Amino acid sequence: MELPESPTQSAGPALVLVHGFPLDRRIWSPQVDFFAPTHRLIPPDLPGFGVALHEKSIQTLEDYAKWLLAVLDGLGVGSFVLGGHSMGGYIAFAMHRIAPERLAGLALIATRAAADSPETAATRETNAQKALAEGPGFLADAMLPKLFAGDPPAAHVPTVRSMIKISKSAGVATALRAMASRPDATPQLATLKIPVLVIAGRQDKIVPAAESEAMAKAIPGARLVWAEKSGHMPMLEEPDLVNRELLDLVKLATASHP
Ligand code: MLT
Repeated sequence: MELPESPTQSAGPALVLVHGFPLDRRIWSPQVDFFAPTHRLIPPDLPGFGVALHEKSIQTLEDYAKWLLAVLDGLGVGSFVLGGHSMGGYIAFAMHRIAPERLAGLALIATRAAADSPETAATRETNAQKALAEGPGFLADAMLPKLFAGDPPAAHVPTVRSMIKISKSAGVATALRAMASRPDATPQLATLKIPVLVIAGRQDKIVPAAESEAMAKAIPGARLVWAEKSGHMPMLEEPDLVNRELLDLVKLATASHP
């Protein structure tokens, strides 16, 4: 997989941005524009999404984290600031479980620590089977009304549809099953000893505001930033805010983990 590297890189940890489900690296377009000229920015497509092939060896969120570590090892990245959007946040918690020493900072964006309820897990299995039988296209109509604060903005609809259209059925089913079987990350929150930024969309229809607030409160010293005009996609809905906050996090991580 080809990954962009910025021409003039700042010292300090790389910034790795992991997209949510069933999306791809294009959700980070405003962050790529902002950070790529000055920072080592790595926004991968997860296996089975975007231009990345499905990887049969992946079953759990830990497997995604191991895959990401292998990518980063290949790029010579040591420590990094990991920003995870929604499912990307679940992978960030998995990364913290398997390689905490590599994390210089964490940005948890529109994500949650809790595991799935049995009902949610069952719905994911239904959707996994549907994606395998029919392809992932049905997810576009199911997801679009939930992603943004109001109606889906016309500027983003074609891109979101394209992300879902080019995702691989097997990759979508794998991601759904991995999310359904993930452990509760709540016990990890008190053990996070690195700079942590929580960005929550005040109007998120997928992760309720109260859940974000409780998660941030349980992380010692975490900075909670409300994206007041955002739903589940603050990196696209309020990109300037997200860029500014990520930049501050990278600076803090660089100072505390040079
Ligand atoms: C995501 O945006 O990654 C998903 O909505 C997360 C989830 O379904 O739990």
